[in-house]
Amino acid sequence: MLVNTPPMGWNTWNTFGNDISDALVRESADAFIDLGLKDAGYQYVVIDDCWSLKTRDKATGRIVPDPEKFPHGMKALADYVHSKGLKFGMYSCAGQRTCADYPASFDHEYLDAKTFAEWGVDFLKYDFCFCPRGFKGELLYRRMGMALRASGRDILFSACNWGVDDVWSWIRSTGAHMFRSTGDIFDTPESFRKIAISQMNRLNAHGAQCFNDMDMLTVGMYGKGNVGAAGCTAADYRSEFALWCMCGVPLMLGCDIRTIDREMLELVTNHGLIAIDQDPECRQPYFMHDPEREKKLVVFRHLDGGKYAVGFFNFDDKERDMTFTFSDAGLTAASGLGFRFTPVLGPLEGEYGE
Ligand code: GLA
Repeated sequence: MLVNTPPMGWNTWNTFGNDISDALVRESADAFIDLGLKDAGYQYVVIDDCWSLKTRDKATGRIVPDPEKFPHGMKALADYVHSKGLKFGMYSCAGQRTCADYPASFDHEYLDAKTFAEWGVDFLKYDFCFCPRGFKGELLYRRMGMALRASGRDILFSACNWGVDDVWSWIRSTGAHMFRSTGDIFDTPESFRKIAISQMNRLNAHGAQCFNDMDMLTVGMYGKGNVGAAGCTAADYRSEFALWCMCGVPLMLGCDIRTIDREMLELVTNHGLIAIDQDPECRQPYFMHDPEREKKLVVFRHLDGGKYAVGFFNFDDKERDMTFTFSDAGLTAASGLGFRFTPVLGPLEGEYGE
């Protein structure tokens, strides 16, 4: 399965956690269409943890969708999502239980992959909790990578081992198409900034077919829901979304898209930013060296077609000077060349008091 650009979609976890249902997923799929998210490139509707009963079916050994949350079963829900021209994603885990203590796929990889394929699943997020002693992540992700390939269906493999065990040195070899390179995000400015800065030395494995995953976005959550925490301001969310796009990573929305406000909808459908994220060369950016990088970052990236992207991120609560020298970007004075700038996203009006 070829995955040439970073996947885009929505995932239930950040806002809904355990509180998920057939109706929520259908309404969110509707919102993809009604709000223009699908037209902007968002495609995957993903159910995270907590979708099943607490034990497998004794007779078949299969994981059973919770009939209270998903009374029509997963196949019917997948059909609904597909009828909207979207793709359907689900979640399991490499260990014996999922992180929220539901049955997981250890030693059931091939049965579960087959079940997901029969239901019409297009995307599998695969977590890393409760792995038995003596089994390395590398082997467990290989097992599910093989099981998905043997399932008879193209299923995007989204590995989620939180960036541990030097994941970037082996993950591409498991068949994964994206891999979490950080711990879990929370809806605070500190959380997304820390994640972005932590990627500086971790983008070396990133590229087409297997992308670094900086976690689902908190953009538009405003502190509500499962990873809600203190919440962020609109200006913070602009930084967060632009950072993810500058890094060219998967864009998985995590807010309640059914109630997203206009300002946040405009942000997450910003054509210029999405074009940077989805650039076909899939190069990682570099972060300009700055001893004050906790306070400000300048990020530069080569794009296709003789274009470049530069992002200025002020993490401070006051105005800051940002320096971007052409020589740092590799353009010498002797070259006689310069850049022509086209703004994609500026600071909010009045952000610094004027
Ligand atoms: C882990 C993952 C999260 C989410 C939860 C579900 O913490 O990193 O993204 O999937 O498990 O329990």
